Amino acid sequence: MKMKKFLSLLMLIGIICFSTTTIVFGEEIVYDAYYIVTTPGEDASTQMNINYHTHNKLTSLEYTVASDINYENKTVVTGDLVEFEAKDDPTDVGKRVEEDFELRNIVSVYLTGLEPGTEYRYRINKGDGTYTEDYTFRTADGGKETTFLFLTDAHVHKYSTQEATENTYHYDRVVVNRALEMAPNLAFVLHTGDMVDRGGKQSEWDTFFQASTNLRRIPMVGSPGNHEYYHYSTGEYSAKFYNAHFNSPKNGPAELLGSTSYFIYNNILFVQLDTVKRLNMQKQMDWFEEIVYNNPTKYIVVSAHKPFQGYAEEWFKLFEQFSVDLVLTGHTHSQNYRPNHLFTQNKKADDPNLGVTYLTGYGSGEKGANDGFGYLITIKDDKIDIQSYKGEQNLARFEHEAKRPDTHEPITKQEFIDSLTFTVDKENERAGLTWTEKAYGNVLKVEVKDNIRNYDNKQYIWTPSKTFIYFENIHDGYVYDYTATVTFADGTTESFNYVFDLDPNSNIRLTYEEETPSKAIVDVDLKDNLYHFTYFSVFLNDELFDEYNIFFDGFTKKFTFEDLDPNTEYTVRVEARTHRNEVIWTDELTFTTVDFKTTTDEGGCKSGTSLPYAILMGLSAVASTIFVVRRKKY
Ligand SMILES: [Fe+2]
Repeated sequence: MKMKKFLSLLMLIGIICFSTTTIVFGEEIVYDAYYIVTTPGEDASTQMNINYHTHNKLTSLEYTVASDINYENKTVVTGDLVEFEAKDDPTDVGKRVEEDFELRNIVSVYLTGLEPGTEYRYRINKGDGTYTEDYTFRTADGGKETTFLFLTDAHVHKYSTQEATENTYHYDRVVVNRALEMAPNLAFVLHTGDMVDRGGKQSEWDTFFQASTNLRRIPMVGSPGNHEYYHYSTGEYSAKFYNAHFNSPKNGPAELLGSTSYFIYNNILFVQLDTVKRLNMQKQMDWFEEIVYNNPTKYIVVSAHKPFQGYAEEWFKLFEQFSVDLVLTGHTHSQNYRPNHLFTQNKKADDPNLGVTYLTGYGSGEKGANDGFGYLITIKDDKIDIQSYKGEQNLARFEHEAKRPDTHEPITKQEFIDSLTFTVDKENERAGLTWTEKAYGNVLKVEVKDNIRNYDNKQYIWTPSKTFIYFENIHDGYVYDYTATVTFADGTTESFNYVFDLDPNSNIRLTYEEETPSKAIVDVDLKDNLYHFTYFSVFLNDELFDEYNIFFDGFTKKFTFEDLDPNTEYTVRVEARTHRNEVIWTDELTFTTVDFKTTTDEGGCKSGTSLPYAILMGLSAVASTIFVVRRKKY
């Protein structure tokens, strides 16, 4: 048996050496298919993706159920084919590679319409009627138990001696083999990057596929690591070489197709992120939010290469909003386990249904002193069970109860609406909206918009513990105006308005100090907590009247508008601008000058005549009722 394996290995090496050194397209046809990997499709119960490389354009893939060993009922499919090569160009840093990749075709096959819970076999016709060996996979059965292997940082590497190189096969020969012994029904391997030590080296990928004999019987999915991003030396460039070797579902953001993706396996949403270079982070976050919102599953498992702590902390809020179950990462070659954590508050959650469990794994290869680890993860209906191991030795075991019940108690929309309670907690400087814990299953999300500061926050009701949304930094001296929009499970929405005023004098005070038919004085009185605004512009009826800088003019300024018409409405608008000249806050005051006739004895015009005291008071009252006509932005 060992000799047979050794001979197969020699043959595989022979094929790779031959095909990568002699092919010239158009002159000689080389019949081959290599670097074959199976990856779950978006719906892992009916779809599987396969990636392989070939030097010809005649290959096809044949698949059938596993019991049909002679392929009597086979289906033949051809994949999408693209040419691929990489030659080092020392004159262009963007085209440098550590070692050339010879011209070949990459074939992406998408199997669809498969039967759930079924074992299949496939082989590739190399183009001349000869075949690769058989590969097998099993589709998800739609059941309530899934076992997969989480590993990371295999760092398969090509050394100068074969013995040293084969030491780097450890991840497959020891770690994956042991997982298959413990769980023969293993669904797939989830590998969070640094599969090879240098992505921009063809010999590293040759070595990886020589090492990964279990790819014949188990699908693999993952994310690129910084080492896959290394095109040349340790310069981090792109996921180009990672994407050439795997056919992950093409359902990620356009800029990250292949390296960011998701699939659903039984009752679990698996989301793989490419955060190595922090590119397109916001697009990736927007995509994540949409994917999770539109694919409610009992469990959510996120994976990426680098731990989010210290690298991409903006994700924590999103993970907590959706009560993600597990976040799996690598990169550090050391283990960091944070059960039910709230990184946004830097503490372990009192309620585990609100926290997120983060696990950074030891490496699975032989690169570091603490490497050689695997994590067998079984997700059952009621809990997640993580068994870490090294070689034959089982180590720590972690268990987490399911956060999302399968059922919920239906309530009416009115019951939910009646439960909405808005509170202002001045002591802790926060306001909050709370609701019944029966919301889970009846309400999808509550979004709250701060209408003055143009800021919004949302809470996804992804567990029964999601019964609140809070707003921090509620300070005295400000007006707050919120609109809460509730999205019910049937997709309908309802909105509610909450306004409270912690200082009737507001932040910026426009007062109508003195009036005559032709003159008005307006005080602009800024609270000193508006220090982050630099420039202010004052407009009278949309015409710029004055501009000033608070650093020179202080927080209070008086403007006198003269030569006004009597009995006419005027609007004074103040705009606050940042040092980048962005208008981020405006305030307006509308006032009407007094009618000249009311101030004359016999109907004559006496401009500048002082108003009787009573009239002044009356106008002041009018002015105060229209004090702040509209507040827009902050
Ligand atoms: Fe690594």
